[in-house]
Amino acid sequence: MSFEYRNGRLCAEDVPLEEIAARYGTPCFVYSRRAIEAAYAEFVQASAGREVLVCYAVKANSNLAVLGLLARLGAGFDIVSGGELARVLAAGGNPRKVVFSGVGKTEADMRAALQAGVLCFNVESEAELERLDAVARSLGVRAPVSLRVNPDVDARTHPYISTGLKQNKFGIAYAEAPRVYRKAAAMPGLHVAGIDVHIGSQITETRPFVDALHKVLEFVDVLEATGIPLEHIDLGGGLGIRYRDEAPPRIAEYLGAMFAALGSTRAGQRILLEPGRALVGNAGILLTKVEYLKRGEAKNFAIVDAAMNDLIRPALYEAWHEVKTVKQAAPNAKDAVYDVVGPVCETGDFLAQDRTLAVQPGDLLAVMSAGAYGMVMSSNYNSRPRAAEVLVSGGEVHLARRRETLEELYAQESMPKW
Ligand code: LLP
Repeated sequence: MSFEYRNGRLCAEDVPLEEIAARYGTPCFVYSRRAIEAAYAEFVQASAGREVLVCYAVKANSNLAVLGLLARLGAGFDIVSGGELARVLAAGGNPRKVVFSGVGKTEADMRAALQAGVLCFNVESEAELERLDAVARSLGVRAPVSLRVNPDVDARTHPYISTGLKQNKFGIAYAEAPRVYRKAAAMPGLHVAGIDVHIGSQITETRPFVDALHKVLEFVDVLEATGIPLEHIDLGGGLGIRYRDEAPPRIAEYLGAMFAALGSTRAGQRILLEPGRALVGNAGILLTKVEYLKRGEAKNFAIVDAAMNDLIRPALYEAWHEVKTVKQAAPNAKDAVYDVVGPVCETGDFLAQDRTLAVQPGDLLAVMSAGAYGMVMSSNYNSRPRAAEVLVSGGEVHLARRRETLEELYAQESMPKW
């Protein structure tokens, strides 16, 4: 494990978190190279003998240091904006291993991705298909496409992160898809390359993935019978991690179930995967300092220097993140039950609720499992500079993003002369 107590002090790999806080301040996201590499290796090992491309979902954590690490391991990338494409390229990612997802691609996004030469566009509507065809023709190229089909499968996850139900905005309805595929195949600016499905995020069971894949495979058979062969099947992302007591399938178990569903007839089929959280979620923590302890009438509060603007998951999804004291509590330490809250002026500004902690002002806390959808969803609300990010490798600490300065908060703003 990458975040463990050594001599009573919580460490990131071989570095005590206290040292990181002293050097870079708090709040600070701390990522473990070893943890990211181990998760990626699990995908690779479980795919041995198959043609699988792991396209890391950049939205989960788009720091260049993280992208660069994965690019060097040979990963591809799943992007959803021109901004993410720029990051991937800046980090040395191979555009031929990039898939472009998302419901709202602009013309500029499409042009940039075509010029970069991405592997595939995952198209989510007929209107997008038409726009992509036009943009590709204007550049004199053919855009490789998959249609993202909506299999109407319940991922049984939080409603905000469930995407494979017919009431969701994502994908092309299953019943419509054959017609849209025929249309795509006839468009001169497009090349039908594959099919794509993504049913949601933080999915902790294998069943919804398998159900979705079965639906996709039935559909692929029909397509192939009508003379539309596919080069790849993109199974999306969504594999959950353990935050508290969830028991998601192991990566190997999840992939084993997918390969079993593919069966022997499709043993040689090229498979694309788009994991985000499963690669980086448990590879990061948010390091924060206790500013005050406040004993209320109904509740006790540990007021820390990180807030909902740094990690919005608890406020937005009532997500549960484990909170650990960086100094391991002595067995007889005096503890109390606290809500761990930030300085932002919102009642929803909490990182954790009802946690038993032995803490004093000035102590450091680690909010665990913050490697995915942490920094990327942060904001400057309350004019709070965004946190620093560091990547640890063994005993080395690399400052992956320095803390924003106060001047940077308003550097793009100006006052009118009148
Ligand atoms: N592919 C597509 C098309 C996606 O929309 C997503 C995530 C992924 C892959 C990666 O999913 P993952 O493997 O990370 O589950 N902010 C939320 C999660 C939103 C996920 C959005 N789409 C959270 O903090 O839980």
